[in-house]
Amino acid sequence: MKHRLIFRQLSKNLLSLGLSFTVASIIFLGYSSLAAGELLPPPAITQLDLNDPQITERIFSATPKKIITVENDPLFGKTQQYEGYPLQAILNFFESKANSEIAFIASDGYSVTIDPRTAPVERGLLAIRVFSSPDGKSFPDLKVGQEMQNPGPFILVWSGDYKELSKLPVPWGVVEIKLVDKSNYLSQAEPNPKTLKQLASQAAVTQVKRGFNLFKDNCIKCHAVNMEGGRVGPELNVPLNITEYWRPLGLAKMIKNPADVRWGSKMPPFPTLSEPDIADLISYLSAMRFQKVCDTADSCNKYSR
Ligand code: HEC
Repeated sequence: MKHRLIFRQLSKNLLSLGLSFTVASIIFLGYSSLAAGELLPPPAITQLDLNDPQITERIFSATPKKIITVENDPLFGKTQQYEGYPLQAILNFFESKANSEIAFIASDGYSVTIDPRTAPVERGLLAIRVFSSPDGKSFPDLKVGQEMQNPGPFILVWSGDYKELSKLPVPWGVVEIKLVDKSNYLSQAEPNPKTLKQLASQAAVTQVKRGFNLFKDNCIKCHAVNMEGGRVGPELNVPLNITEYWRPLGLAKMIKNPADVRWGSKMPPFPTLSEPDIADLISYLSAMRFQKVCDTADSCNKYSR
């Protein structure tokens, strides 16, 4: 009886000892991983999806915010103060590669690039709000054409007098920042976030992205989409998208082996493309009907000038 009691007491002590050891080691592990984190920076990124809370949390929690002043503000006029994350600090998370630029992609698909080697990066701010916003919104709405649009969630702005900086882009509605290869960056032939959003499923998004890569590797040297690409073969998206006037069977045959469709076709066959490859290519081409830079002969003439 007594022995059992002592044993119980002992095991209780051992248990609490064990517990405190565990607690201590959790704290210790926590600290050591923190320390390791400080010594080894996390791997460099090539793309920052600003809609992804997991990634933005990692980037933004490590980046102190700043307030800057913009004179002759190009969006809201007058002098504005913005709060946001310094561009330099954000770019420090990116891989640095020779011959690459940084693209800022807006939710409506608009995209611009800056060259971090020549742009005054130290003046840039990825703004999350304007200081004098009257209605409690992060940014006041902007008049775009006939409608009002909110320029959030992020705007790239530059400190100082914008009159002197007017060659610098001020993209608003930014939802993605990515490293791009200067020599082959396509801003209009690549499906943008807005286009991808219109697809039915994540599987469709994957398919369209794969299709775009296949198109870049095999087709773009001869064919343009939104006027980006070669001129040997016909433009495939504007004013009418190829899938709006070709039927799927003919299209698949044409891509695989043009001679099966047209005797004497000037397009080479692609015997190495598999059936899923062709399906992905067609998904890409079809998705681009949501993303036209112009949609009539007239508007395309104007756009191409
Ligand atoms: C070497 C240049 C070249 C390459 C590479 C090429 N094409 Fe073509 N393509 C042409 C030419 C030229 C035509 C014009 C039609 C003809 O001569 O029959 C054409 C026609 C087409 C057409 C029919 C358009 C029409 O209405 O006539 C489609 C669709 C097409 N190509 C898709 C593709 C796809 C997808 C790829 C990549 C897998 C691709 N092409 C690669 C040159 C090329």
